[in-house]
Amino acid sequence: MIRTDLGTIDVNAPVPADETERQYYFMAKARAYVNELKEELGRTPTCAVTTFGCQMNAKDSEKLVGILEKIGYQLIETEDADFVIYNTCTVRENANQRVYGRLGVLNGNKRKNPHMKIALCGCMMQEPEVVEKIKTSYRFVDLIFGTHNIFKFAELVCSVFENQSMVIDIWKDTDKIVEDLPAERKYSFKSGVNIMFGCNNFCSYCIVPYVRGRERSRNPKDIIREIEALVADGVVEVMLLGQNVNSYGKNLEEPMSFAELLKEVEKIEGLERIRFMTSHPKDLSDELIEVMKNSKKICRHLHLPLQSGSTRILTAMNRRYTKEQYLALAEKIRKEIPDISITTDIIVGFPGETLEDVEETIDVVKKVQYDNAFTFIYSKRTGTPAAAMENQVPEEVVKEGFDKLLAVVQETARDRAARLQGQTLEALVEERNEQDDTLMTGRLSNNILVHFKGDESLLGKIVKVHLDECHGFYYTGSIVE
Ligand code: 5AD
Ligand code: SF4
Repeated sequence: MIRTDLGTIDVNAPVPADETERQYYFMAKARAYVNELKEELGRTPTCAVTTFGCQMNAKDSEKLVGILEKIGYQLIETEDADFVIYNTCTVRENANQRVYGRLGVLNGNKRKNPHMKIALCGCMMQEPEVVEKIKTSYRFVDLIFGTHNIFKFAELVCSVFENQSMVIDIWKDTDKIVEDLPAERKYSFKSGVNIMFGCNNFCSYCIVPYVRGRERSRNPKDIIREIEALVADGVVEVMLLGQNVNSYGKNLEEPMSFAELLKEVEKIEGLERIRFMTSHPKDLSDELIEVMKNSKKICRHLHLPLQSGSTRILTAMNRRYTKEQYLALAEKIRKEIPDISITTDIIVGFPGETLEDVEETIDVVKKVQYDNAFTFIYSKRTGTPAAAMENQVPEEVVKEGFDKLLAVVQETARDRAARLQGQTLEALVEERNEQDDTLMTGRLSNNILVHFKGDESLLGKIVKVHLDECHGFYYTGSIVE
């Protein structure tokens, strides 16, 4: 049994060997440092965690907050906190630029508050050029770590308190998964759950396999145990997270498919909704479609990144499916699960892409009728095969294709959303509406948002809502008793 009550841990005893125990030991130690700071400041020290990027990062940030709170920091929203951490993303270049821009502001805050600690972590820190740049131009940063050793955050915080100079700890890769560390959920009623880490696909434009490492699946028992504990703590919806959930379990000692895992998760009593992200079309099995079709809990939403509708470009992207295979898969899914919504990611401007290729993508958008599509302009990522390709596309050509695609994507999404008008569907009430505080916002099983009259007593409940009026991509509605 691991001791999680920091008061019972002797920080003068030898450091434990078990990794989870080891990290609790460092939490106890860090708490003593934070306590000293508290005495010095005459108030509780504050922390702020800013997340860039995807749901994986959002989940990692919850783990960071969990540890910061456990060691005595109070979480605040503003970045004038005593401990500020940026959990970064590097999937596209503009994500990096945003981090550099905001670091300048943090430097100003630190000048006013010299005891302030600034930490950087996440995908961007796995790039050696980034770390070099921070070492030379952003010397006020106290701590840099990467994606593979986030589990040792408590230990790194101790090093920061014990060292005057910048602490840097980046691992190239890991096969380690450390269980049972604390996490502080942003929502009390829904939670992301990691089922696997890393990616083995090496799509030629993508930096993720280089910064998140090789694919590793969590043990199904650990996943189920975590979800059971979440449900006991009030969670009704989980989002199973992985870069490529369809290849879950292949490398486990006792291999298990993603569909089999879903069947196990479905059995958990008290859990009402299951979502997952992201599916690679090449690995989406008939077994999964069958499990989704027969499930009462799996939400009617599938995110199925297309990236391009041109087989020629798909080949250069190393996606390992053709336009026709993708269309056949989408058709099969729509036939088996008619009320499902399908969303996607598309990149415009991959090296060598012509306007004819974009027309092929538009053709797929029209045929599949996506409920929503995230469209991205290709961003060159150093170290990926596509970055070395010679036929990079001129900006004007990219822009023309992008605008054309976006118009079709928006029109399709609008048509799809409108079809629900007048239906009564279940929504999970997630938050108070930001613009109008007499309204609450709920999420339908198919991921569409609906706003309706209500108050905060409804938060986390699943209610039946009549969809009164479609406003493009969302609805206004009314609760049906
Ligand atoms: N440029 C533009 N978009 C990219 N994505 C991944 N890498 C790049 C890149 N280099 C997009 C893909 C992926 C989504 C998360 O980000 O569409 O599905
Ligand atoms: Fe990147 Fe492709 Fe892996 Fe997705 S599947 S994370 S796009 S390499």
